[in-house]
Amino acid sequence: MSIPFIDLAAQQARLKTDIDAGIAHVLASGQYILGPQVGEFESQLAEFGQARHALGCANGTDALILPMIAWDIPRGSAVFCPSFTYCATAEAIAIKGAVPVFVDIDRDTYNMDPASLRAAVEGARADGMELFGVITVDLFGQCANYEELAPIAREFGLKIIADGAQGFGSTLNGHHPLHWSDVTTTSFYPAKPLGCYGDGGAVLTNDDDLAAAMDSVRIHGKGTDKYDNVRVGLNSRLDTIQAAVLLAKLSVFEDEIAARNRIADRYIEALSGVVSRVPTVLDGVRSTWAQFTVEVPDPAGFAAAMREHDVPTARFYPKPVHRQTAYADFPVGAGGLANTEDCMAHTISLPMHPYLDENTQDRIVEAVKASLA
Ligand SMILES: Cc1ncc(COP(=O)(O)O)c(C=O)c1O
Repeated sequence: MSIPFIDLAAQQARLKTDIDAGIAHVLASGQYILGPQVGEFESQLAEFGQARHALGCANGTDALILPMIAWDIPRGSAVFCPSFTYCATAEAIAIKGAVPVFVDIDRDTYNMDPASLRAAVEGARADGMELFGVITVDLFGQCANYEELAPIAREFGLKIIADGAQGFGSTLNGHHPLHWSDVTTTSFYPAKPLGCYGDGGAVLTNDDDLAAAMDSVRIHGKGTDKYDNVRVGLNSRLDTIQAAVLLAKLSVFEDEIAARNRIADRYIEALSGVVSRVPTVLDGVRSTWAQFTVEVPDPAGFAAAMREHDVPTARFYPKPVHRQTAYADFPVGAGGLANTEDCMAHTISLPMHPYLDENTQDRIVEAVKASLA
């Protein structure tokens, strides 16, 4: 029997009664847009993420664009971001005419490398670029190294946007990324650790002015007068039905993160010395294990061998953003991207979700061993 890469059906079976009741309630109420479930979910999400404000929006890409518009980011200004990420991170910078400057990652954690950030910022300043911000990415579920990245960003007056599309729920020494960032974003794309049944996203912030501006941006730049929009914005709301689904899913999210950590520990124990690298988690980090990513000498050959055993794998990311057509002309930071290039050639992800039982996991481990033999 083939193994799913992410088993959303198992989670649905657990939560079906609550999800069905939540959706039925929205259907009966007729409040499909900004119904009370959206506000209820936002307040629970803010509490979960240790934030004063949480605002739902249409997806995790818009969640990154909302603060850019709210801050009226100057055209041509530099925003530093990794290249080893999903394209949306850089897209949110470029779409408003700012310039993504690609920064290398730490070879062990795959998250932004502090020394590379410093080199990129100093290089951009020497080139006369206006400096604006940094989008750190909590890749594969793990918080970036905020304790080292945030002081560098603040030294140069950069805004910090924590792209938590994969890492929402991850903490560093008990703090969510918002402890260091101006705004944290997340995606509720179905395959994300906290996903809904369609598109959705959210921004979290402790900054009252930024929250008010992002609230305006997500509703066409609304002002106090409904017919006088005060800025050019977006139509980017979280649907009430998705909020109802997310209320049910948030109630078990902590439990699911704990399960993911048990599964990751088991994988690490079984695969150390088998694959070239098992994941490294920084001291003090609780990862949400959005992906369980290992390194092998030949990912394409490995994926084909795993398929023979009916085990799916996925490549994140065979082509980092700076090599993609739309982004190839944007600058690479002064430190270069040697680690990004190296990781790209070796990483591959194994099935990971909170309902992966031990027997199935053992089958996957045996398939990995056989595929590398
Ligand atoms: C790191 C990262 N940022 C942003 C996004 C965008 O989220 P969405 O697909 O909800 O727009 C994703 C989605 O895969 C992501 O992985």
